[in-house]
Amino acid sequence: MEISELVASKVVDVPDFPKPGILFKDLMPLFSDGPAFAAVIDAIIAEHGPDSFDVVAGIEARGFVIAAAIAYATGKGVVPVRKAGKLPRATVSASYALEYGEATLEVHEDAFVAGERVLVVDDVLATGGTAAATLSLVERAGGTVSGFSVLLELGFLDGRSRIAPRPVHALLTVS
Ligand code: PRP
Repeated sequence: MEISELVASKVVDVPDFPKPGILFKDLMPLFSDGPAFAAVIDAIIAEHGPDSFDVVAGIEARGFVIAAAIAYATGKGVVPVRKAGKLPRATVSASYALEYGEATLEVHEDAFVAGERVLVVDDVLATGGTAAATLSLVERAGGTVSGFSVLLELGFLDGRSRIAPRPVHALLTVS
């Protein structure tokens, strides 16, 4: 089975979550299926190459799970990109608009060694606000974004344009 078909088979559409009118894409069945989860982690590593990055940054909260698995499999470390007020030391921060609502993301200002190559991962690219804020944070904290991967891209929301000219790699794009 193609990796895109595998992801598609594990996405559950949840109407009206977290607000009326939002069709939430739930990827928890993909995370909880051992062989499927291993396959998507391996696919992301293969896409970028295990020697193309020094550390993996995961976006709260589902990105943490993906980042940790990639980091362990490749012998790299993990940096969490967190929602406001969760990190204990000095941070850089960025506010952004979500598909629903608004939020602020933060990363420790000393999270990266200067020039460190950072693979950024998350579960879903929707409007791209989260991704744009994160890629900016990584660079402001001294890292170099070497790649950005998501499991699922909602192509109709055109999040790609928010992070252009940086590329995004998606295992599955739905339109
Ligand atoms: C979801 C998803 C991405 C983000 C994508 O996170 O996991 O991080 O939204 O949306 P965007 O492209 O429109 O910015 P959510 O805000 O639900 O946070 P959570 O993972 O902590 O539940």
